[in-house]
Amino acid sequence: MASGTEEGSSMKIGIIGAGNMGGCLGKLWSQAGHQIMFSFTQDPKALEEAAVSAGGRTGTVIDAAQFGDVVLVAVPWAAIDIALKDVASVLAGKVVISCNNPLKPDLSGLLLGTETSGAEEVARLLPAARVVEVLFPFAHQLRSGELRFDGQQPSQFYCGDDVQAKRAVATLIGELGLDPVDAGPLTSARFLEPFGMLMVQLAYRQGFGVNIGTQLLRR
Ligand SMILES: NC(=O)c1ccc[n+]([C@@H]2O[C@H](COP(=O)([O-])OP(=O)(O)OC[C@H]3O[C@@H](n4cnc5c(N)ncnc54)[C@H](OP(=O)(O)O)[C@@H]3O)[C@@H](O)[C@H]2O)c1
Repeated sequence: MASGTEEGSSMKIGIIGAGNMGGCLGKLWSQAGHQIMFSFTQDPKALEEAAVSAGGRTGTVIDAAQFGDVVLVAVPWAAIDIALKDVASVLAGKVVISCNNPLKPDLSGLLLGTETSGAEEVARLLPAARVVEVLFPFAHQLRSGELRFDGQQPSQFYCGDDVQAKRAVATLIGELGLDPVDAGPLTSARFLEPFGMLMVQLAYRQGFGVNIGTQLLRR
């Protein structure tokens, strides 16, 4: 199969942060036919486990950045600087998916916004990368592999400034069974991140739990 970011081709996906989100998304995209390389854990055993579970490989952050046609960054906000400190030049021109919400560690709110956003901070750290923000459903849902709700397809908002990068990312979102909805330029992350925070609030403080999703109704 051809490798690249064209629709229908097998992509090489580098993952920086092989935790809840990186581990689950890597496994689902591996099942969809993509090649995966995991990197960046504090516990080397967890890195190996993610790779074994997904049928992928492991490497350093620089290896994963070099490997990927698309690179997913999925780390706690406190680790974003250290995760990206050596890869700005390697990621120049590459599609980078940021799923990092700058949550306060106690989940009580956001550390920045709404005149900037986590995604724009990622783009500042990776000035030549083609950054697309996607916050994805809760990891619990990704882990179960069941992303629909009684057959209904949740909407998945994404935003970024590069049309081709957004097309590649929309394909990856669709392969998860979600309905990709283009929310506009990367500055729309200023609104997507508070929306992600609202989902956290509903799940953990309002008692809805993590089996919730959203759908954009249209007529
Ligand atoms: N979890 C969700 O449901 C969800 C949903 C939407 C968006 N998000 C966003 O996605 C991002 C990732 O969330 P997550 O739940 O996947 O996080 P996580 O599992 O806690 O951590 C992600 C990865 O980063 C690694 N890491 C953290 N600090 C590190 C350090 N100093 N050095 C090396 N590796 C380090 C972790 O390794 P160790 O495990 O070894 O520490 C893990 O592999 C966050 O920004 C979050 O806001 C999460």
